[in-house]
Amino acid sequence: MKAVLIWPSLPLFLLFILPRLHALQLCTNSMAPVALKTPLPFCGYTGSSCCNATEDRELRRQFEALNVSDTACAGAMRSITCAICDPYSAELFDTGARLGTIPILCNSTVSATSSLARVSNQSFCKQVWDSCNNVTIQNSPFSGLRLPVSSARLNDIWHSEADFCETFGGPSGEDTLCFDGNSTSFSRSTASPNPKGLCFERIGNGSYLNMVAHPDGSNRVFVSNQAGKIWLATVPEHGSGGTLEIDESDPFLDLTDVVHLDAQFGLMGLAFHPNFTTNGRFFVSYNCDKLQSTSCSGRCSCNSDVGCDPSSLGSDNGAQPCQYQAVVAEYTANSSSAAPSIATSANPQEVRRIFTMGLPFTNHHGGQILFGPADGYLYFMMGDGGNKGDPFNFAQNKKALLGKIMRLDINSIQSKCESQINDLGLWGNYSIPDDNPYTVDRGLEAEIWAFGLRNPWRCSFDLERPSYFFCADVGQEVYEEVDLITKGGNYGWHVYEGPNLYIPPLSPRVNMSLSCINPIFPIMGYTHSDINSTMGSASITGGYVYRSTIDPCLYGRYLYADLYGRDIWAGAEIPENSGNYTSTLIPFSCAKNSPIPCDAVAGSPLPNLGYVYSFGEDNRKDVFLLSSSGVYRIISPSHCNYSCPLENTTGTGSSAPGQSSSARRTEGLLGRVVMLLFLLLWWMF
Ligand SMILES: *[C@@H]1O[C@H](CO)[C@@H](O)[C@H](O)[C@H]1NC(C)=O
Ligand SMILES: *[C@@H]1O[C@H](CO)[C@@H](O)[C@H](O)[C@H]1NC(C)=O
Ligand SMILES: *[C@@H]1O[C@H](CO)[C@@H](O)[C@H](O)[C@H]1NC(C)=O
Ligand SMILES: *[C@@H]1O[C@H](CO)[C@@H](O)[C@H](O)[C@H]1NC(C)=O
Ligand SMILES: *[C@@H]1O[C@H](CO)[C@@H](O)[C@H](O)[C@H]1NC(C)=O
Ligand SMILES: *[C@@H]1O[C@H](CO)[C@@H](O)[C@H](O)[C@H]1NC(C)=O
Ligand SMILES: *[C@@H]1O[C@H](CO)[C@@H](O)[C@H](O)[C@H]1NC(C)=O
Ligand SMILES: *[C@@H]1O[C@H](CO)[C@@H](O)[C@H](O)[C@H]1NC(C)=O
Ligand SMILES: *[C@@H]1O[C@H](CO)[C@@H](O)[C@H](O)[C@H]1NC(C)=O
Ligand SMILES: *[C@@H]1O[C@H](CO)[C@@H](O)[C@H](O)[C@H]1NC(C)=O
Ligand SMILES: *[C@@H]1O[C@H](CO)[C@@H](O)[C@H](O)[C@H]1NC(C)=O
Ligand SMILES: *[C@@H]1O[C@H](CO)[C@@H](O)[C@H](O)[C@H]1NC(C)=O
Repeated sequence: MKAVLIWPSLPLFLLFILPRLHALQLCTNSMAPVALKTPLPFCGYTGSSCCNATEDRELRRQFEALNVSDTACAGAMRSITCAICDPYSAELFDTGARLGTIPILCNSTVSATSSLARVSNQSFCKQVWDSCNNVTIQNSPFSGLRLPVSSARLNDIWHSEADFCETFGGPSGEDTLCFDGNSTSFSRSTASPNPKGLCFERIGNGSYLNMVAHPDGSNRVFVSNQAGKIWLATVPEHGSGGTLEIDESDPFLDLTDVVHLDAQFGLMGLAFHPNFTTNGRFFVSYNCDKLQSTSCSGRCSCNSDVGCDPSSLGSDNGAQPCQYQAVVAEYTANSSSAAPSIATSANPQEVRRIFTMGLPFTNHHGGQILFGPADGYLYFMMGDGGNKGDPFNFAQNKKALLGKIMRLDINSIQSKCESQINDLGLWGNYSIPDDNPYTVDRGLEAEIWAFGLRNPWRCSFDLERPSYFFCADVGQEVYEEVDLITKGGNYGWHVYEGPNLYIPPLSPRVNMSLSCINPIFPIMGYTHSDINSTMGSASITGGYVYRSTIDPCLYGRYLYADLYGRDIWAGAEIPENSGNYTSTLIPFSCAKNSPIPCDAVAGSPLPNLGYVYSFGEDNRKDVFLLSSSGVYRIISPSHCNYSCPLENTTGTGSSAPGQSSSARRTEGLLGRVVMLLFLLLWWMF
């Protein structure tokens, strides 16, 4: 019985939520490791670790309770006891059905060609067996798996090394990571050749904020503009010379009547249920104005629960507190169609109000929504609510939903009664996933997945590695950042702006002591002095990890841009799995045979992209840039004379201009519901 207490098994929910991780630094509680200021006295981990000093002391007690007399075996058992502190512990302990107290013990030499090749080259499992098989171990962590004995020798249970390693051993490979007795480290893998540049073609004139792939896997996408219209569009074949087929006069759904359009208000996000093709459900995130729309009402984010006095905000920005709301609403494809994937329109009637929250100011309220590819939950990005420096310290306030990434379950909708019984005080019709981080950090509101953000402006999951969740977060004075979002992670704002300490101009209501927070610093970013925009200060627009095969030199690089369209970066983790990200400005140009010619910037070789509002991705995994001047697709680098030794130039995309299909519908004139002064307030406050 004692053994069970001493070796608490890992929370069961891990079984359900851990996707294949590909060596992402993650702890067994699904949270990111923290940076240690000093090495752990007992376990010896330095740098980042899943344990703090308190847990280190507890592990020492656990180890001492084993009472192992043999020195070699004690060394091995100490390593195993401490494996939970390894920054990759989530993966080391992800032993499927055997998930529990023992990490996967390396039992074979690994292939040096694997990107996960370990530095070590020995069978740790054999080492454990050889040194421990005939040693008495009290409260043995091994025994619980087969026999309920509290003190045992390995050879009481297993008869040979092979038998033992059959149970506890495992190799390190593309999708498994094993424990070799030491803190996990990786050998260098050869990176793909550096991309020489990004080659664009302009395939649309319209200005859109969102482009999401049609869930049916076809060559169609949904695009939406800030004013509130959603269209179904067809992406042209590579090399066809075609443009985005879209009939702007015939939207899929027109919400302009309920959407409030202004600099940072409008239709901000669009997400299709993973099972849209069978259930027709989709979700729209937008802003509304209480004074204009009767359906616009809800609880105010700035209230006494979070120590915020709305009346003190009265005249700021001319906005009444909570006059404007952030809304997520559910709609459905036109059910008169035989199947949702054939539908070319939506039912204009809102099905359900998923979420609504009154905003304190007129800026910084993100608004993107995304379904997690691994968990099927809806992620909702929310900024700090605006003004300069987050004066109410919302982003760090665990009871506020501003400055957060939320994670909602829209499949099971909690009834009013359940909600009252559970006292969760929800902001609409959804339920809370059981493994949201409030279960680990009781201080957090139940909706919160991550916090400490200023204005997350475009997030994406890596298609190949769904546990990699990238978010660009717009900076204040100095630094524009890209964060790797993990459960319960605190990204620092407004105590930190990027990696730098930030001193809020208005003193915060809650005096944050640096020792009270454990920020996760950005993995990439740029400082405002890195760009030479003559148009204004910097503002980041996050993109995607490029996974198309069209430009093989770009494969695996995370793309992001500055709003002003002069600077685009490509970032990568080099070496892979090192946690060491670097990003560099990447040259870009427009293909000579672009279906719609790109505008030129006077006196510059760069095409004039206008303002880069967002990025998009289609079912071919191609990446698109959505700007004030149109829709740009990344095509083969050779079209712009960038060399990439891996490019297949015998295949697609070398056709001459003028081959475009005459039958295609043409794009409506410029989609010119003016993007107003989208950016003006972006950074000023
Ligand atoms: C150590 O981590 C545990 C569990 O995450 C936490 O409860 C505790 O507060 C932490 N202790 C310190 C000193 O940070
Ligand atoms: C530890 O093991 C030794 C023998 O190796 C034994 O004498 C001692 O009582 C044990 N201690 C505990 C606390 O069980
Ligand atoms: C790893 O082990 C194999 C077989 O035991 C041996 O041939 C090889 O040289 C070792 N490699 C290193 C780097 O130690
Ligand atoms: C195992 O240990 C016991 C007592 O500690 C000893 O008598 C025995 O010879 C050992 N067996 C082997 C195979 O080492
Ligand atoms: C290594 O571990 C795997 C998985 O448990 C097992 O199937 C295999 O037999 C082990 N190999 C050796 C050499 O022990
Ligand atoms: C751990 O690392 C140390 C020093 O780097 C090395 O001497 C030792 O053999 C390693 N242990 C294992 C089990 O790989
Ligand atoms: C739904 O589809 C039917 C059949 O295609 C069509 O007649 C009807 O106008 C559509 N309704 C809406 C609201 O688009
Ligand atoms: C989609 O449908 C499948 C099969 O019915 C189901 O297993 C899965 O959970 C659904 N996905 C979501 C996100 O609801
Ligand atoms: C600024 O512009 C000049 C001239 O176009 C260019 O050479 C330089 O690389 C740019 N600097 C940055 C940081 O973009
Ligand atoms: C991280 O990457 C940079 C640039 O490639 C390199 O200089 C540095 O040595 C790397 N650091 C580690 C720990 O790999
Ligand atoms: C290059 O592309 C062509 C046409 O798509 C294809 O037939 C060929 O197999 C490709 N070659 C390689 C090496 O991928
Ligand atoms: C895009 O705009 C350009 C310039 O206004 C115009 O010549 C062209 O026909 C437009 N293309 C489409 C597909 O609308």
